[in-house]
Amino acid sequence: VDLQRANTLGLPCRAEHFLASDDLAEIRAALRQAKDHDWSLTVLGGGSNLVLYPQLPGLVLQPTFSDFRLEEVGGGEVLAHVGAGRDWPSLVVALAECGLWGTENLALIPGHAGAAPIQNIGAYGVELADVLEEVHLLDREGQERQLHRDECAFGYRDSIFKHELKNRVVITRLVLRLSRHATPRLDYGDLASRVASVSPRALDVVDAVSAIRREKLPDPRHVGNAGSFFKNPVVAADKAQQLLERYPQMPHFPLAEGGVKLAAGWLIDQCGLKGVRDGHVGVHDRQALVLVHHGGGSAEELLALAAHVSASVQERFGVALDREPRLMGKPET
Ligand code: EPU
Repeated sequence: VDLQRANTLGLPCRAEHFLASDDLAEIRAALRQAKDHDWSLTVLGGGSNLVLYPQLPGLVLQPTFSDFRLEEVGGGEVLAHVGAGRDWPSLVVALAECGLWGTENLALIPGHAGAAPIQNIGAYGVELADVLEEVHLLDREGQERQLHRDECAFGYRDSIFKHELKNRVVITRLVLRLSRHATPRLDYGDLASRVASVSPRALDVVDAVSAIRREKLPDPRHVGNAGSFFKNPVVAADKAQQLLERYPQMPHFPLAEGGVKLAAGWLIDQCGLKGVRDGHVGVHDRQALVLVHHGGGSAEELLALAAHVSASVQERFGVALDREPRLMGKPET
């Protein structure tokens, strides 16, 4: 099965065995077959945080559960039970339209709900971990299990699903804890100034976040991309201090747990790389943290550009950048 249209970078890739399904029995049968044949398991969501090599061996499973149910739990709190195959950006709009607060800052992040816990999606001062109650999943034996938020080892763009449970579980459903009480979180960047009302609705925040994202981030329907290609690096306080003496205008965010987070986009921008193009790939011209694929290129080309970007930042600032999207599959043999 051809996955070129199933990944937002639009990289060419073929899956050896592919199943998209919202039928538990069918998914269990596929897991059993994979186990019998010793196939690897790859779970695909919206394909918006992946760099795919041309071949994806083993079983590629795309859960398409689309159920949606709200459960009032008292005190103005509501649990949203959401199938893994739901489109995240439209879910955020639907929740805000119900007057529910919690996910509004996570508007317009491309992908499926089921993939959101894997990298703990985050934007504008909010992370999925702040609203997630529980993750429902199938293990490789086809057994249903639930993980509470505290068992997911959430960190910045990180979770247990990138480590111990990598390629070992199929997320089927999320339970989100939302509130009917207004809890706007507008302290990131210029978000507050983009929300006109003094007592905004959740939908007003969705609109403001969406407008900012549309200005800076390329729409994957028009140009291939996987959002931020690098994580924002965390450096030791004395390293940040040294850099600030040379670059007093450098964006920096001291962390409660120690260390200082820097803006990878700013570092790349300072290297003069914003908007550069190299063959079929390039650095986005409005947000240097995003690499783009103009079509006709390959994972190798994109990774070569990423290596060049990291080397430039390393040379100029002495700061290492880590890739953010996950690399999957095998190079052509
Ligand atoms: N900056 C530049 N030049 C650039 C890009 C950024 O100077 O080309 C500066 C900005 O002016 C600002 C700072 O760097 O002072 C931070 O920029 P921004 O607010 O755009 O956010 P970011 O740190 O670049 C992170 C997330 C985004 C998320 C935004 C908003 C990561 C890896 N990226 O980007 O997430 O939308 O914050 O919260 O943490 C994603 O993960 O795919 C993603 C888009």
